Amino acid sequence: MSKPKVFVTRKIAKEALDMIADVAEMEVWEDELPPPRDVLVNKVKDIEGLLSLLTEKVDASLMDAAPRLRVVSNMAVGYENIDVPAATSRGIVVANTPGVLTETTADFAFALLLAAARRVVEADTYTRKGRWKTWGPMILLGHDVHHATLGIVGFGRIGAAMAKRGKGFDMQVLYYDQVRRWQEEKELGVKYIPTLLELLSSSDFVTLHVPLAETYHLIGAAEFAAMKPTAILINTSRGPVVDQKALYQALKSGQIFAAALDVTEVEPIPPGDLLLTLDNVIIAPHIASASVVTRTKMATLAATNLIASLRGEIPPHCVNPEAVREKPR
Ligand code: DGY
Repeated sequence: MSKPKVFVTRKIAKEALDMIADVAEMEVWEDELPPPRDVLVNKVKDIEGLLSLLTEKVDASLMDAAPRLRVVSNMAVGYENIDVPAATSRGIVVANTPGVLTETTADFAFALLLAAARRVVEADTYTRKGRWKTWGPMILLGHDVHHATLGIVGFGRIGAAMAKRGKGFDMQVLYYDQVRRWQEEKELGVKYIPTLLELLSSSDFVTLHVPLAETYHLIGAAEFAAMKPTAILINTSRGPVVDQKALYQALKSGQIFAAALDVTEVEPIPPGDLLLTLDNVIIAPHIASASVVTRTKMATLAATNLIASLRGEIPPHCVNPEAVREKPR
């Protein structure tokens, strides 16, 4: 029997590529940049499996160009790049990689929090630019993290992992979520705040851990107005959760103290974006899950999902199990 064809849209960990190569005829896109749309459309023509990243738009028209496609395995926990209803109606399984990146993402979110609070990036620039002339009592003053109040928006896996880190710094930890997590509240000693505005006005640090669903511009002008002038915003979730124009105004006018972002509304952030003119914002290129171990785990989990689907099984992390029943191709 001939092996199924698979297209992998970027070079990922060798362990994962070896797993796929064992069971499929595999092609890997070797460039650093994603395959251009017309190339992608051409590559999916006769494949059964697609291993995609967040950078690929897997919409109905791409699926229509891939009549044999049975699975789209996204190497990410988020999957807003994929039109899931379109996949389901075509009997295409969609899978993602939750769990394996929780701690690594929380590590990075906390690193951003510390860096923004204590102005680490500004301090490094200050030194390199030769501005360090003496020990100065008023130079580069930031805000304490220990014993401050951490407000977590979205209390899923990564939000809870942030809470643990906050507790390690003796922070008071508050959370806001659509669902109250009684068990975690008890286990982690965190406090539920029933409204977003109340959480924002009570927190020294606000960290976002929500998926991009009904959360577009969840944090905008009204929300910045509710925050303390000393507040620091951390976003490692999705760029569009924050209204970036409102963020610029809030940072520029001193309505909040600083922000640290791993994600932006448009990625990569355009070179002319006004946020890049400010010193009180740190912007990382969407790397919160980027540790060697975690990216390897994400890649092998994406391969496991892909292979299970090609075998006709429901993969371990299936976003739309109903696709299997819906309309097998
Ligand atoms: C995800 O997995 O959704 C992240 O944004 C990339 O690690």
